[in-house]
Amino acid sequence: MNADTDILEPMFFKPIGQKAKLSKIQKEIVRLKKEKNAVILVHNYQIDEIQEVGDFVGDSLGLSYKAAESDADIIVFCGVHFMAETAKIVNPARKVILPELEAGCSLSDSCPAEKLKKYKDENPNTYVVAYINCSAGVKALSDVICTSGNAVKIIEQVPKDREILFVPDQNLGQWVSQQTGRSMKLWPGSCYAHVLFTQDKVQEYKLKFPDAPVVAHPECVQSVRDIADEVCSTEKMVSFCKSHSSDTFIIVTETGMMHRLQREIPEKTFIAGPTDNCACNDCRYMKMNTIDKLLECLKSESPEIDVPETIREQAFAPIDRMLKWSL
Ligand code: 13P
Ligand code: SF4
Repeated sequence: MNADTDILEPMFFKPIGQKAKLSKIQKEIVRLKKEKNAVILVHNYQIDEIQEVGDFVGDSLGLSYKAAESDADIIVFCGVHFMAETAKIVNPARKVILPELEAGCSLSDSCPAEKLKKYKDENPNTYVVAYINCSAGVKALSDVICTSGNAVKIIEQVPKDREILFVPDQNLGQWVSQQTGRSMKLWPGSCYAHVLFTQDKVQEYKLKFPDAPVVAHPECVQSVRDIADEVCSTEKMVSFCKSHSSDTFIIVTETGMMHRLQREIPEKTFIAGPTDNCACNDCRYMKMNTIDKLLECLKSESPEIDVPETIREQAFAPIDRMLKWSL
């Protein structure tokens, strides 16, 4: 940032040349992974070094399918806690490990299971649709789960006579309600990272790069979504930018996404969406996983994710419904 003028220097992720060779530590991770019959699942927001050793890099929906169908002995989940927990819920026979157990999610924390239970007790006709960014306890109290990639499809299948409570992301909930015309109550939670993007800053970039479409995640606030050319999940961002005729895009989501886009579409340029005081936006939880922690976690096969069986069974039903409804 330029302190004198307070004008942000845009952060460009430009076309990359030949793919860099794996480092010593990355090679050791790949070797250990084969030796232990492990699979490495990586969310799009992870650092580049981790994405490079992943067997699959994707969004929450893609990762849930991959976790469910995996026959590896160990699932190493490079993402945040609720994602690894979801992998354990859908595939309990596997050992699921996460490089950093403290990698949580502010959005997930905004909806404690006890509060949701109280709401349901007081409003028995409620149909709870939970965004996957929530704890196993919240999933266990929900009727169906959704991700940003399938939220519209899921809401369209909720019985018409039921009142929907959407938890925990009010921004995604508001967006999906606008897309489907279905009214719903919104839990007052949000992602601390995505709400940092502001309309003023994104607008500045739009004026600066008039040919670059703005692609925003639905966790952004409405004023940002309103000026976006496309609002979609991280996975859809890849296909949107691939098929669009433009060669430059403004990507309004967590910075890790730029690495995925650069690797998949090496000939195009991506500009990280700005917040009021930063030219990019890292999720502090996603960035807790490091390449050293990944190696250590594979070596020690810990920390391991454990979900009590009764909660797991109750949480599995709405996830399974989602996986079936979004086929
Ligand atoms: P996606 O499912 O779109 O990858 O989003 C996950 C997430 O945590 C967004 O903040
Ligand atoms: Fe949670 Fe936001 Fe981080 Fe996604 S970006 S993991 S919603 S805190």
